[in-house]
Amino acid sequence: MNKIKRLAFGTDHTTTKIRDKVKNYLLSSGYEVEDFGYSGNSSCDYPDFAIEVAKAILIKRADKGILICGTGIGMCIAANKVKGVIAATCWDENTARLVVQHNAADIICLGSRTASLDDICYRIKIFLETQFEKRHSQRIEKIKKIEKQY
Ligand code: RB5
Repeated sequence: MNKIKRLAFGTDHTTTKIRDKVKNYLLSSGYEVEDFGYSGNSSCDYPDFAIEVAKAILIKRADKGILICGTGIGMCIAANKVKGVIAATCWDENTARLVVQHNAADIICLGSRTASLDDICYRIKIFLETQFEKRHSQRIEKIKKIEKQY
């Protein structure tokens, strides 16, 4: 059963124009949203927001995380530096589903410069409504083992 309720949300300056729309979409879909993002217009550093969302997942303050920067790539790299957290970028509906089914992603990373508002919201919807497939557990365990070794 899907029990996702609490979301951690983080954005950088590239997302200022759409961040409230994405957030309102999530709230109107019935989720609780903790907003760690940036709402100003000047340039900021995406790792500052990625780490806050990753930490919220790590301490189980949030069930899932959403990060948006220009491409989703920088946020993804930064969030994955927090051991125990899996963040993944996606570029369409299919990969938004697969990052959960196959990769057990805790956080989805999206690009405000590479996707429309509608696409971003739809990918988040797919991400939140998809379940991990247990047949991929062994691979995820191996990833967690790598984290402990290096
Ligand atoms: C900011 O210009 C941009 O580099 C950032 O939003 C992100 O796309 C990095 O990966």
